Formats: sequence, structure tokens, C-alpha cells
Amino acid sequence: MNNFLVIGHRGASGYEPENTLRSFEKALELGCSWIELDVHVVGDQLVVIHDDDLSRTTDGFGLVSTSSFNYLRSLNAGKGEQVPILQEVLDLVGQRCRVNIELKGRGTAKLLSTLLRKRSSKRDQFLVSSFDHTELVQMNPRFRRGAIWNQRVNSLVEKTIALYADTLVVEQSLISASLVEEAQGANLQILGYTINEPADIREMLRLGLNGIFTDFPDQAILLSKSP
Ligand code: G3P
Ligand code: MG
Repeated sequence: MNNFLVIGHRGASGYEPENTLRSFEKALELGCSWIELDVHVVGDQLVVIHDDDLSRTTDGFGLVSTSSFNYLRSLNAGKGEQVPILQEVLDLVGQRCRVNIELKGRGTAKLLSTLLRKRSSKRDQFLVSSFDHTELVQMNPRFRRGAIWNQRVNSLVEKTIALYADTLVVEQSLISASLVEEAQGANLQILGYTINEPADIREMLRLGLNGIFTDFPDQAILLSKSP
């Protein structure tokens, strides 16, 4: 399917440690035109890490939000990689791909709005999304927004539009033909996560989604180009 977005989830996290520079480079090598990453605030920095807690993805312990920046940077995030700051990822990718930045905690929207201010002429390069809709609406409105949903709620499409979002990001089990039709009928793009199984990728293509988040982007790119 043309224009089907294959978004490298936390980079190419099926192959490399998630949310590391190594993972983002791998996603580019595999042909991703979009990558997704998660940001938290530590000190005055946006750091690229998924969980609230350090223990799953690093050799450290404790909450990300109460860690010092120096401690966080001393940790091994896998294969000797550091937890990157957002600026490092943006420097790495340059103009090679588009970037979906997922806000994971309080204060992320304000800091990101400041960081991206000088890039607002390139705003099409970014999509800012979050489960935390209170945080999402604080993002500079010049940037595209995606509202993420992981539970069945009434009027998903209307609620997404009310957040001034142009993208509906939904967990796989919530996706249906009627939701795709309703979203696209309201001029929203609809993206599904996290779609890794070939049969599920084919189903998303059949349903006409605008794209998916996947840990194995090479596989999804191949399937999306298959007749
Ligand atoms: O935005 C899609 C996906 O990244 C949301 O879930 O938990 O992987 O950040 P999570
Ligand atoms: Mg995410």
C-alpha cells in the first residue's frame, strides 16, 4: 500500500536496545521514514527512555524522574549504549527521517516546545503524541499532535479532535474497520501499535490504516510493498 507509514517503535527495538542511538541508526538502515521515541524530563533535559523506572532497560535502579542526570548518563542502556538525550537523536537523524516524539511525563511539553522552537519551519518532520492528554494540549500548537488511546472509550474520534490532534494512535485490539472509516472520514490519520506479527501487519494494511508502529520495521516495509 502506498503511503503506509512504518514507524520504527523505539527505533528498531526488535533488533537493538530500545530508545538508543544504536536502535535509531538501525531503523534508518532498515529504511524507516519515521521513528518513534519516548521522552521524560530529567533536570532540564529531555531524555529518551520509555519506562518511569530505570530497571527494565538499564543497569540502574529507581525512578527516572528522581534520578540525577549524571546518574542516568552513567548507566548502560544495552550493548554499552547511554540513555540518549533528545537532542542527540535529532542530531543523529538530521533530515533522514521523521520523528514521533511521545511525551511520557509532566513538563515534557513545555521543554519540547522550547527545544523545537528553532525547528518550527521543519514542523512536518515531527509528530508529538501522548497518552497524557493534559500534557499533550500544552504542546506548541504549531506541531502536529497525536492522541494515544489504549482503552475503549466512547467517541474516540471526537475526543481526539477536541485535543486539536490530527492523528489517532490506537492500541491494536481497539482497531476496527468502522474506527478506521470514522477517523479518516474526520480527516484524522489513524496509526496502530505495536504491530509485529506478519498476519497482523497484513490485517492493518487490509483495513487501510495510515500506518503502524513496529519493532521489526524491515518486515513491515516488505509486507507493505507486497502486492
Ligand atoms: O505511540 C505508540 C506507542 O509507542 C505507545 O505505547 O508504551 O510503546 O510508548 P508505548
Ligand atoms: Mg512510545
